[in-house]
Amino acid sequence: MVSNYPTAKYYFREFIMEGNRLIGIIGAMPEEVDGIVHLLTEREEFTQGMRTYYKGKLNAIPTIVVFSRWGKVAAATTVTALITEFKITELIFTGVAGAIHTDLNVGDIVIGKRFIQHDMDARPLMKKHEIPLLGKTYLDSDDDHINIALTAVQEILSTNKLQNAIGQQTLTEFNITKPKVVVGEIASGDKFFSNAVDKQTLLQELPDTLCVEMEGAAVAQVCFEYEIPFTIIRTISDAADDSAHIDFTSFLSKVSSLYSVEIIKSLYKTFEKNV
Ligand code: ADE
Repeated sequence: MVSNYPTAKYYFREFIMEGNRLIGIIGAMPEEVDGIVHLLTEREEFTQGMRTYYKGKLNAIPTIVVFSRWGKVAAATTVTALITEFKITELIFTGVAGAIHTDLNVGDIVIGKRFIQHDMDARPLMKKHEIPLLGKTYLDSDDDHINIALTAVQEILSTNKLQNAIGQQTLTEFNITKPKVVVGEIASGDKFFSNAVDKQTLLQELPDTLCVEMEGAAVAQVCFEYEIPFTIIRTISDAADDSAHIDFTSFLSKVSSLYSVEIIKSLYKTFEKNV
């Protein structure tokens, strides 16, 4: 059956040019997406499959911004649309995460080096956490993209740009004193960690985990399968324990968008120096 429903290609036809750089930015929260959308110039939007895609230019680089929705299926669907319909050439994901490593505090930033699906378990067909048919347990982001992200985040932390954007009152409220950035392992799954027992169980099983969230490893899998480079940056919103739901909610409304906007602005400035 032929559909007359206009597709993404119809709306964004001058924009979708195979071979040219086109960055997809996915935000894990509507608040973050709103902030990033406001950075776009020549903005247009297109809605499909319960997602609104905002296209425009950010520091002259063609960019599409979209809210992932929550969980692995939602995020995988969103990134697949960005790759197959919109023809993005690279992906950036920003969002929040619950701290698993004891050294991490609310307000710290994690750049994902490798990703595991903590809820993947197809035993006895394969070992726990192995992704069926891929024969892989971990999916890695590449060093070049990690280093660019690290430079960008170090820039905003060392110059106090982030702290200034947030303001002292909010920093004090969330006990954010000296936020740091670390690069390492992120565990993703369809579960919000909200008690100390589950947190300990995960830590025992996957001791290298820095933080947990609900999308990154799914996004990493799709990007791996389509050979799209990706950068996943997470801000710690809670300690993934019994107070997680309270800290998460208030961090989202007051802080997370400011982090994403500053991170994206700094990343794009770093791109200019790395062309
Ligand atoms: N994202 C932010 N906080 C989280 C938590 N505690 N569990 C899972 N995903 C999260």
